[in-house]
Amino acid sequence: MNERHKSILAPSLLAYDHADLGVAAVEIESEGREWLHVDLMDGHFVPNLSFGPQTVADLRAKCGLFLDVHLMLSNPGVLVEAFAKSGADLISVHVETGSGVGEVLSQIRNLGCQVGIALNPDTPAEEIRPFLGEVDLVVVMTVVPGFGGQSFRQDMIEKINVLHRWREIGRLDFRLEVDGGVNPENAMLCQDAGADVFVAGTAYRNLDKEARNAFALSMGSA
Ligand code: DX5
Ligand code: ZN
Repeated sequence: MNERHKSILAPSLLAYDHADLGVAAVEIESEGREWLHVDLMDGHFVPNLSFGPQTVADLRAKCGLFLDVHLMLSNPGVLVEAFAKSGADLISVHVETGSGVGEVLSQIRNLGCQVGIALNPDTPAEEIRPFLGEVDLVVVMTVVPGFGGQSFRQDMIEKINVLHRWREIGRLDFRLEVDGGVNPENAMLCQDAGADVFVAGTAYRNLDKEARNAFALSMGSA
């Protein structure tokens, strides 16, 4: 575990009723969580659609949660300003979006948001290594992105470990987030490998209030 960062359990809004997102955010905040993971999809980078900048703005008005915005967009550069203006606290973009990704990371920083870089399960950790000194968050996808409710990819534990080691060796300070199929059992394995932010959609939503708190407590995030 990276002792520099407190562990965070970040519920994913995608798992909630999309006609009642504000209610979900208020409930999540009242349960004592500090972060909300918000997935944005464009039907191109991933074969699904979710929310837009207006959703983020309306969530911002309803809760004080740290809005961890995960952009699954082929061309994130055209929308980062809109998401920053909507009140996103942190914006992550995927390394698979191509050669302009470094520029988009700088753009996010200049807009006053924290900066994240995400990588898909089949993308080697080496591909994000050049960016590790300039990000606040690395998002290790533990499912192929696009849908909630998929099974956690156990083979991603090694990738988390590698990234954690690079963080230690380089004396870097980014947070290490796992996203996809995370539940109370595999979250522990991820934590042991060095992760400190745990996105949980389906698993969190399916627990009762007491079990949600137990999940947060077990991760040291309560
Ligand atoms: C997947 C999204 C995830 C998703 C996680 O494309 O990036 O954030 O909401 O949901 P679960 O926990 O259900 O896999
Ligand atoms: Zn996500």
